[in-house]
Amino acid sequence: MGKWLLRGAIALLAVGAAGAAWVFGFLPRTHPPAPVRVAATPEVIERGRYLAINVLQCVDCHSVRDWTKYGGPPVAPIGAGRPCMDRKTPTAGVNVNQEYFPGVLCIRNITPDRATGIGEWSDGEIIRAVREGIGRDGRGLFPIMPYFIYRHLSDEDVQAVVAYLRTLPAADSGITPERQIEFPLNLLVRLWPEPLEAPVVAPDRAKDRLAYGEYLARIARCEFCHTPREPNAMEGFEGRRFAGGMPFHLGKERVMYPMNLTPHASGLGGWTREQFVARFRAHATPQTVTPAENTLMNWNAFSGMTDDDLDLLWDFFMTLPPVPYRQEPL
Ligand code: HEC
Ligand code: HEC
Repeated sequence: MGKWLLRGAIALLAVGAAGAAWVFGFLPRTHPPAPVRVAATPEVIERGRYLAINVLQCVDCHSVRDWTKYGGPPVAPIGAGRPCMDRKTPTAGVNVNQEYFPGVLCIRNITPDRATGIGEWSDGEIIRAVREGIGRDGRGLFPIMPYFIYRHLSDEDVQAVVAYLRTLPAADSGITPERQIEFPLNLLVRLWPEPLEAPVVAPDRAKDRLAYGEYLARIARCEFCHTPREPNAMEGFEGRRFAGGMPFHLGKERVMYPMNLTPHASGLGGWTREQFVARFRAHATPQTVTPAENTLMNWNAFSGMTDDDLDLLWDFFMTLPPVPYRQEPL
C-alpha cells in the first residue's frame, strides 16, 4: 500500500495546485471520535495490561528503553514517551528511506498526565488514534505508530487497552516539541489514515483457533516485522507472508534478519513447539548484553505471552505454505 500511496502522492503533485488543495483541504479522511465510554472492570484492565505490554508493544514504543539489556526492556515511568527523533537521528531500520529522520517526531506520553499525556482525551479519541491514526487535533499520525495494523484490533481489545492506559501512574514527560515532517512524508501522513466504518470483532478463539492465531500474529506485528517488503512499503511481497523480514539495524554494528516463520527448512521447519515456546520464555529476565549482541525484537515483552497464545501462534505458523527465506530484497 505504501508504494502506491507514494506514487499517488507524486501523481497528485504532478496535477499541481488542485492536487495540493485536495491533500491539504480534505485529508486526512476522518470522522468524529465514537462516543464510547469504556467499562473498566478489573478483568478488562488486566486484559488491556496484557495486550499493551506483552502483545501490542504500546509500552515498549512509548517508553525509554534500556539497551544495555537484551531486547531493550522499557524503563519507568512506563508509557511516558521517549526522546524525539530529529534531523540528527539515523533512521536505519525505521521504515523511512533516508539516512536521517526528515523532521521532528515524538513518541509521546500515553499516561493519564493532563498536560503531556492522554489525561484530557476521551476514550473515543484514544481509540481513533490507535486504530485510525488520527490525533486529538484531527491531524494524521505518522505511521511509525502502527495504526494500519491496529485497525484489525477488535472493539473489545482496543477498549481494554484504553482502560489499562488510564490506570498507569501519570507522569509528566516534558516532551513538548511540535511535530515537523518534511516533504513528501508530510503528504503521506495525510493520505494514510483510513476511517473504520464498521465494528471490529476478533475471531472466536474457542471455535476457530487458527483464525485467532492469525489475529495474534497480525496485532503483535509478527507479520509486519517478519515479512519481506520494499523499503517504505507497508505491505509485504505477495506470497511471502511471514517468510522472513527485511534487515533491521541496531546502531552501526548490528544487522539482523527476522526469521522465516513458515514451516520451511530455512524457517520454523526444523523447530519443535517446545523450542518455540522456550525461545520466548528465555527472556523474562533479560540478560545484560553488548550492543553487538542486542536485538530489535521485543523479546522481554513477548516473554509474558500466555501459553495458549504462543500455542495458537505456533499452530497458525505451521499452516502457512513453506516458503524459502531470501535475505535480499526481491
Ligand atoms: C512502533 C512504535 C509504536 C507502537 C508499537 C505504538 N506507538 Fe503510539 N505512537 C508512535 C509514534 C511514532 C507516534 C507519534 C505519531 C505522530 O505524532 O505523528 C505515536 C502516537 C500515539 C498516540 C497519539 C499521541 C499524541 O499525543 O498525539 C497515541 C494515543 C498512541 N500512540 C497510543 C498507542 C497505543 C495505545 C499503542 C498500543 C496499542 C501504541 N501507541 C503503539 C509509535 C508507536
Ligand atoms: C519489531 C520487529 C519484530 C516483531 C514485532 C517481531 N519480531 Fe521476531 N524477530 C525480529 C528480529 C529483528 C529477529 C532477529 C533477531 C533475533 O533473533 O532477536 C527476530 C527473530 C525471531 C525469531 C528467531 C529467534 C531465533 O532464535 O533465531 C522468532 C522465532 C521470532 N522472531 C518470532 C516472532 C513472533 C512469533 C513474533 C510475534 C509475536 C515476532 N517475532 C515479532 C523482529 C521482530
